[in-house]
Amino acid sequence: MKKIIFTVLSLLIVTLLFVWSGVYNIAATDKHWGITNELIEILRERSIETRAENIIVPANLDDASGTGTTAKNYEEMCSVCHLAPGMEATELHEGLYPQPPVFSRSAHGEHDARDNFWVIKNGIKLTGMPAWGKSHTDAEIWALVIFIDRLNEMSAEEYQEAVSGG
Ligand code: HEC
Repeated sequence: MKKIIFTVLSLLIVTLLFVWSGVYNIAATDKHWGITNELIEILRERSIETRAENIIVPANLDDASGTGTTAKNYEEMCSVCHLAPGMEATELHEGLYPQPPVFSRSAHGEHDARDNFWVIKNGIKLTGMPAWGKSHTDAEIWALVIFIDRLNEMSAEEYQEAVSGG
């Protein structure tokens, strides 16, 4: 028992010394080790899945998107980080770490609708992904979930048309 207490205390002290020492480089330009990335990935996926699994997906989800308002919302609130069809990489997209995924390049239906809804509504700590649920209704967020899933099939012209009210 004494040995266990000693080991736990030693580990705690080493951890605190590491945190306090300033040795850790918090720069966005200093990439995580492979193993750290794997752990963060598992933590993020499990955290989101656990919170999103009981969300009820609206039945008429497919009709909820493609409106000019959704496209405009995406253009104004999301494209600066997540880019859009025909759009060049922005400074924010390039500078953020982790880098925001480019939805127009991901495969159709690659992401779970519930997970995406939860992320857009609540944001992700320490990544730059904001919580949009503070300023937007669930209906507006579901429309964005559908919209980002369709971006990979949209040409630059179709995207511009949608944004300008098409
Ligand atoms: C300031 C930059 C920024 C803005 C603005 C932003 N995001 Fe993000 N978003 C991120 C980053 C960074 C991540 C990746 C987080 C990670 O890897 O854990 C992310 C992740 C996501 C994810 C999860 C994707 C996945 O593959 O798991 C979704 C969905 C998402 N954003 C949707 C949106 C939508 C919709 C908007 C606009 C309403 C938006 N984001 C605005 C930075 C941003």
